[in-house]
Amino acid sequence: MMMQRSASAVRVWAPAKVNLFLEVLARRPDGYHELATLMVAVSLYDTLEFTERSQTGSGNEEGVTTLRCDHPSLSTGPDNLICRAVERVRREAGRRESVGIRLWKRIPMAAGLAGGSSDAAATLAGLNRLWRLGWDRDKLIRLGAELGSDVSFFFAAPAAWCTGRGEQVEPLRLGRALDLVLIAPPLGLSTAAVFRGVTVPRSPRSGAAIRQAAAEGDVNELGRQLHNRLQPVAEQLCPAVADLSARLAGLGPAGQLMTGSGSTVFALCRDPGEALRLARALNSAREELGGARVFVVRSCH
Ligand code: C5P
Repeated sequence: MMMQRSASAVRVWAPAKVNLFLEVLARRPDGYHELATLMVAVSLYDTLEFTERSQTGSGNEEGVTTLRCDHPSLSTGPDNLICRAVERVRREAGRRESVGIRLWKRIPMAAGLAGGSSDAAATLAGLNRLWRLGWDRDKLIRLGAELGSDVSFFFAAPAAWCTGRGEQVEPLRLGRALDLVLIAPPLGLSTAAVFRGVTVPRSPRSGAAIRQAAAEGDVNELGRQLHNRLQPVAEQLCPAVADLSARLAGLGPAGQLMTGSGSTVFALCRDPGEALRLARALNSAREELGGARVFVVRSCH
């Protein structure tokens, strides 16, 4: 994630992620699933700005978090993962000053792009800087894991092999930048609902081949190795996932897949020109997309 500091504020650009591979290995006693997944951060960002409230003339009340967001349907109350991240930082650091947060939401929600998790990671990182806490990456990874399974990844981005609930992160070097086209249906999917429907495979796929293809930057091989165990469940719950996936396949990219627990699907393209060609083809048939939104993105570096 990118960060910029001014005298009294910190601005953070929080990227979306896609999963190029997601295998379910086991159901755990705590209700979660043991995963093996390859995650890549991509150039679609929410923006967060953290301001010291004492500098904005808000009075001297203590421990107040004010979250404002340009997206009307997003809760800005204590249930928002950003506010929960602030409380976690306050508790860990023993800090009581008030903070103002502005969020410009660009990442589609409940879309398998981890926008909420990335915002939470940005909050940990942003407050670490704003309040000069001096926490290292391992500490941020540990706190992130308490907030959600996908939060830790953003401290290992731009690419990582993730296991456990997804919170055990092993950074991975991509052999080259990846060009993708995302297509996000207007209706999202509940992560919990999708996981409830999954069957743990008797012979899970190992992911060794896709890790090698990622390291070598072999896009055609990456395309052949794309895999998401959650996709059939998501297609049952949201037929648009299957429709859009078939539409992408028809345009001939290196591969296509649903990301995370959906509902976004993406095409993996061989170069930026191919990504633009696909996006143009999708946009020229807009009325057939059922309100789905198209984004041309690149892996972050
Ligand atoms: O960790 P997070 O809050 O993002 O997970 C949301 C839900 O997704 C969990 O409550 C759980 O039902 C499901 N989940 C799972 N196994 C994982 C990650 C998430 O079953 N590894």
